[in-house]
Amino acid sequence: MLKKKIDTFIENINHCDKAFICPICKSQLHINNKSLECNSGHCYNISKKGFVVLNEPSSEALYGENLFLSRRNVFSSGYYDNIAEKIISITNKLSFPEAKILDAGCGEGFYTGRIASGISSSICFGIDLSKSAIARATDYNNCIFSVADLSSLPFADSYFDVIVNILTPACYNEFLRVLKPNGVLIKVIPGKNYLKELRNTLSKAYDNDNVLKHAYEAMNIIAQDEISYTLPLNQTNLKDFISMSPLTANLSVKEKELLSQAPINEITIDLIILTCNRK
Ligand SMILES: C[S@@+](CC[C@H](N)C(=O)[O-])C[C@H]1O[C@@H](n2cnc3c(N)ncnc32)[C@H](O)[C@@H]1O
Ligand SMILES: [Zn+2]
Repeated sequence: MLKKKIDTFIENINHCDKAFICPICKSQLHINNKSLECNSGHCYNISKKGFVVLNEPSSEALYGENLFLSRRNVFSSGYYDNIAEKIISITNKLSFPEAKILDAGCGEGFYTGRIASGISSSICFGIDLSKSAIARATDYNNCIFSVADLSSLPFADSYFDVIVNILTPACYNEFLRVLKPNGVLIKVIPGKNYLKELRNTLSKAYDNDNVLKHAYEAMNIIAQDEISYTLPLNQTNLKDFISMSPLTANLSVKEKELLSQAPINEITIDLIILTCNRK
């Protein structure tokens, strides 16, 4: 019989019972029946879908259900496989035994799931402020997912060997608090040509100077890798690329429809992967 998601969550968390702290009083959370509880009595139910809500979820205005469904479709079509493989390769080379890994802003969980499969004996956690993203992420049953805010992480100090932070805002102070002293942050940001076929059609340029500057100020950058490739696109993929990106969030349904008729038949993935440790 298929194991229930809630039981998988409890089983996974039993391997790492000191990970979570209470977002209210910051003391350790432990499993009590079907919830996580601290000694002050704050209690967080584990949902039947196999995740726990530790912060008030975000409104779905910018990142909604449709965006995560489209991201899932795009990931399933393999467009980001090279990126996942590169992250796994970087992490494997770090050789942390039984690495504890956090995907901060994991969305629908593609990278978290891939990393958990690609790095043996690792324990992978994914957090995101979107409840619909996390509900979808629990399809990857080898990870521990929660709704949480990356600017106030519900994890113990110095818990993680690696944090990945992919196309998501960073909160370096919090990352440094939960990283072990020798821990590593892998941050992925768009390169200048990322989704350039969509950007050109929308006349939206992208400038990553500020994001890069901020990363270089906060962290010691061990490596900066740029991965860039262009792949063919059919109409269905194009529609998914249009709705998976916050780039098009302000477009009306009609504008999105018009964009999906544009003669775009290839798409460029151009991402910068920063491998960083503390200064
Ligand atoms: C562009 S998506 C990227 C998601 C995932 N890393 C991926 O590549 O598919 C940005 C994600 O950041 C999440 N996010 C934004 N602010 C956040 C915060 N303060 N705490 C946690 N997640 C946040 C959003 O909900 C969204 O899932
Ligand atoms: Zn508490």
